[in-house]
Amino acid sequence: MAEDLNIHAGTKEEQYQSLLPQIKGLLSGEPDLIANLANICAALKEQFNWLWVGFYIVKNNELVLGPFQGPVACTRIQKGRGVCGTSWQQAATLIVPDVEKFPGHIACSSLSKSEIVVPLIRNGMVVAVLDVDSNLLNQFDATDQYYLEQVIAAIEMY
Ligand code: SME
Repeated sequence: MAEDLNIHAGTKEEQYQSLLPQIKGLLSGEPDLIANLANICAALKEQFNWLWVGFYIVKNNELVLGPFQGPVACTRIQKGRGVCGTSWQQAATLIVPDVEKFPGHIACSSLSKSEIVVPLIRNGMVVAVLDVDSNLLNQFDATDQYYLEQVIAAIEMY
């Protein structure tokens, strides 16, 4: 496995196209879920330098904070609460251009302005969500959804 990430400048799409195979390389042959989630956070943070990139993992019917990069965050989120809990409930990716306009948004950091949450679904069940926060409004769109869903699809569960 290459130890250093090759950081690519360019359009958002070009950045994802450079990063995605590198993330697949990082995950390849490593069965440990936490190790893989941690490296995904680090790779996304290094490439895009978003405010916060992390996973919440479903444990005993709530979301519990998992590997992340960024400021300290809320540790537990209930189903249907906030963007993460709503993504879990709907088993769907949610793009929030302005978090202040999302009813029930959970403000872990006052710096967060826009957000995307992608569920990790295995055997028809949401087992975790990837949450990405930006300190700028309107930072996430269909390109982020497409590529972040590809990142999530690359996670093998054993
Ligand atoms: N804003 C999220 C909570 C998690 S933090 O942003 C890291 C939400 O509304 O679910």
